[in-house]
Amino acid sequence: MSKIIAIANQKGGVGKTTTAINLASCLAVAEKKTLLIDFDPQGNASVGLGLDKESFSERNIYHTLIGEEEISRCIYKTDLPLLDIVPSDNNLIGAEIELVSAFAREAKLKSALAAVENVYDYIIIDCAPSLGLLTVNSLNAATHYIVPMQTEYFAMEGLSQLLNTIKLIRSSLNPKIELLGILLTMFDGRNNLSKQVSSEIHKHFKGKVFESLIPRNVKLSESPSFGKPIILYDINSKGSEAYLSLAREIIHTLEKPEEEQSQVNFLASKMKEIPKFEDYTNY
Ligand SMILES: Nc1ncnc2c1ncn2[C@@H]1O[C@H](COP(=O)(O)OP(=O)(O)O)[C@@H](O)[C@H]1O
Ligand SMILES: [Mg+2]
Repeated sequence: MSKIIAIANQKGGVGKTTTAINLASCLAVAEKKTLLIDFDPQGNASVGLGLDKESFSERNIYHTLIGEEEISRCIYKTDLPLLDIVPSDNNLIGAEIELVSAFAREAKLKSALAAVENVYDYIIIDCAPSLGLLTVNSLNAATHYIVPMQTEYFAMEGLSQLLNTIKLIRSSLNPKIELLGILLTMFDGRNNLSKQVSSEIHKHFKGKVFESLIPRNVKLSESPSFGKPIILYDINSKGSEAYLSLAREIIHTLEKPEEEQSQVNFLASKMKEIPKFEDYTNY
């Protein structure tokens, strides 16, 4: 089953889309088959990965959500062989209104993803900057969520609303959703405020902040205008380094237990093959 990770924070400009694009790309480079769902009507992730808006206006996440198209017909290839995307454009604004009276309106994305969740190792959802029906759909479909936080003044403002929404979702729709981590973005080591905010967040979310830290890096802000993820735009940049490190950290967190488990099982099966002491005493 896919690991489905929602990148959520109702604030705009905190690095959700940058994280969605670059985390998804780094997972794909780490040989994980990955699908990026652009779930923001602004469609920044779609354009940022080099898709032409005209090319997907007839088939995108909106058509999937309202049940007009199968999700498999709304999946597009990217420059990375293991990364696919379901794009979005401003039609998605309409979906929120059209779905108001729909049956199980908060489970539309979840049921759409059911058709592809055995195809991908990871599904990354770039959420819209709101706590409306779209974000509720993302959090209902997700197994995990990441909260990017800009290391700036007011970083924690509004956070309690997001955490309350998640609490509600966990108590009703999706009890299994887990916080994968808080991600500090646009960190500037030369700026005292950045350091102060970062240590506040660490204090507040003890043990829940990713070790990987995303620095403020101009290459990260340039790459979408070339339609490329950072690793294809400038592999040697600090931005590439940071998102590769984040992908490694996530793979380690989510996959290590299974690996260890299978190693344990393997060793256990080997142990069974070794004759016991009593077996020798027969000679
Ligand atoms: N680490 C970073 N360094 C420099 N600029 C960044 C970084 N992360 C994001 N940006 C820029 O900040 C702006 C907002 O980021 P974005 O990822 O679009 O946020 P959101 O999706 O939360 O609205 C964009 O112009 C983006 O290019
Ligand atoms: Mg965005």
